[in-house]
Amino acid sequence: MQRPHILQVGPYPAWDEEPLNEAFTVHRYFAADDKQAFLAGIGSQVRGIATRGELGANRAMIEACPSLEVVSVYGVGFDAVDLAACRERGVRVTNTPDVLTNDVADLGIAMMLCQSRGMIGAERWVRDGSWAKGLYPLKRRVWGRRAGVLGLGRIGYEVAKRLAGFDMDIAYSDVAQKDFAPDWTFVADPVELARRSDFLFVTLAASAATRHIVNKDVLAALGEDGMLINISRASNIDEDALLDALETKVLGSAALDVFEGEPKLNPRFLALDNVLLQPHHASGTIETRKAMGKLVRDNLAAHFAGQPLLTPVL
Ligand code: 8YV
Repeated sequence: MQRPHILQVGPYPAWDEEPLNEAFTVHRYFAADDKQAFLAGIGSQVRGIATRGELGANRAMIEACPSLEVVSVYGVGFDAVDLAACRERGVRVTNTPDVLTNDVADLGIAMMLCQSRGMIGAERWVRDGSWAKGLYPLKRRVWGRRAGVLGLGRIGYEVAKRLAGFDMDIAYSDVAQKDFAPDWTFVADPVELARRSDFLFVTLAASAATRHIVNKDVLAALGEDGMLINISRASNIDEDALLDALETKVLGSAALDVFEGEPKLNPRFLALDNVLLQPHHASGTIETRKAMGKLVRDNLAAHFAGQPLLTPVL
């Protein structure tokens, strides 16, 4: 039987290459010098797109593949896939939820601890010999303080569960109060949530509706002693307002795993000493990435075998 042709948008770890090549005829978009010419050449054969959360598939790419049937996203977030273009063409979309939830939550907690206790600066203090000359400046405690979780989905829930282990006072915002969270305070308005938080976690699935939900007012409400932790998508935050707030100390600090235009982040971030910068790796453990790769392939295989998709979005 002929293997279905798929378009691979970005690289995956080496262990995914062999099983992908065995099951499909893979066209590596990211390796092409002239991407437009590449798509024009092979687009008509492509029945599936295998992409990554942050890369997605835009309308031009979808339109360049008239035989496209399915887009399989390596990631839980599918905001970079043009869902309208997929709907118009009856193209199915899948993602990789659940398998990454705990690792993403772990990194969010690690970022809070690292930034609040000044661990990056403390490491430098040891390495550059400052320790011999004096004590490292005192930092802020985490346990027992007030945490807000903006978006109590799968990842937000796991973040909040972990925060409970630090005896924190936990509140959350979402479209509605959640029955499964009776111990945590529901606060509908993100500004109010920020006002009652020392640490504000952004764990929302990004969409047009959540774009810049963390705006100037939310940042001001979080305040000069507050910390913003983003493990979702950059688009959930008004990044210019965030940079202004960090530069003027209207906001105390931030810990960020995602950026507009990543991996080329705004250079203003690099001049700040009150932000922890991470390279979008919240799901980046060997265990989780292996599970994500398998789920991407299993969804494609299910589709081409005429079986139900494992984790459908559309
Ligand atoms: C990325 C993510 O897909 O799950 C998501 O939505 O953004 C990540 O898991 C990952 O960095 C691989 O590119």
